[in-house]
Amino acid sequence: MIYYFTGTGNSLYVAKVLGINLEMSIHDLSENFRHPDRGKQIDFTDGEILGFVFPVYAWGPPKWVLDFIKGMKIKDDVKPGYIFAIATCGENIGNTMGILGKSLKEKGWELDYGYSLKMPNNYMIFGTDAETGLIAEEKIRRVDLLMDQITRDLKGKGKGFFLETGPFPKLLTSVVHPLFSKGVTKPSKFRANDRCTSCETCCKVCNTQTIRMVQGIPRWGKECVQCLACINLCPEKAIDYGRGTRNKHRYKNPRISSFELEKK
Ligand SMILES: Cc1cc2nc3c(=O)[nH]c(=O)nc-3n(C[C@H](O)[C@H](O)[C@H](O)COP(=O)(O)O)c2cc1C
Ligand code: SF4
Ligand code: SF4
Repeated sequence: MIYYFTGTGNSLYVAKVLGINLEMSIHDLSENFRHPDRGKQIDFTDGEILGFVFPVYAWGPPKWVLDFIKGMKIKDDVKPGYIFAIATCGENIGNTMGILGKSLKEKGWELDYGYSLKMPNNYMIFGTDAETGLIAEEKIRRVDLLMDQITRDLKGKGKGFFLETGPFPKLLTSVVHPLFSKGVTKPSKFRANDRCTSCETCCKVCNTQTIRMVQGIPRWGKECVQCLACINLCPEKAIDYGRGTRNKHRYKNPRISSFELEKK
């Protein structure tokens, strides 16, 4: 079973390719925090492979991935036989795998294999810009080549970590990631401008379903996981975050449709 979390499709793309290559089913783990009433009992058989694919946020795993792992409930006599994690990022991941490994260890499980995949950056709020065009295509082409190697490794239940941690990984992860998780990005700063056609795509792709249409205009609530699906996927590029995003790019993985990113 492969659990993925995604905003703009990179992690879904990787999960889909691995699901096909390894003949494993894939599940959107964000369903768990949208529908907590459905229960957290996970159905897998003893010795089954368990995989996680997710984007890196401020040099750490999204809090919602860690919350999901913490809340996973399986039958007493069942244990995964092999666990892998793929972190997608724009540049590097800091100590993301260290944090993920620790949260698995707290359940008595071992992370056997970890890989970081450099994919197009989808972040444009502070500092960087989202990547599009040739830069994005080139990164995805390289990922396609690496996926063959990752598939071979996973079929052989290989062990090891193949990570672009970047400079000062432990420092960046221990200082910047907690600040980010506390909510540096405020959803109330998202606004739709007059190019908005009331198509409701932003509402449909929102991982937390926190966006509501009020008299034809989207309004953001408080439950934001900062996945940036709304701002990136608006077909009219009508969403901004303060003033800083007005002249910046928007990104969606070109191999994944907007429809696939709509939450069910
Ligand atoms: C809030 C936020 C924080 C991010 N932080 C990092 C980071 O620390 N390092 C990095 O290389 N990329 C970072 N990125 C880029 C994403 O990890 C990358 O584009 C990822 O592949 C997006 O995956 P998705 O399309 O599945 O949502 C960040 C993106 C967002 C939205
Ligand atoms: S996706 Fe864009 S155009 Fe559609 S409702 Fe949201 S802001 Fe308006
Ligand atoms: S409001 Fe936007 S950034 Fe926040 S969870 Fe929803 S889609 Fe993601």
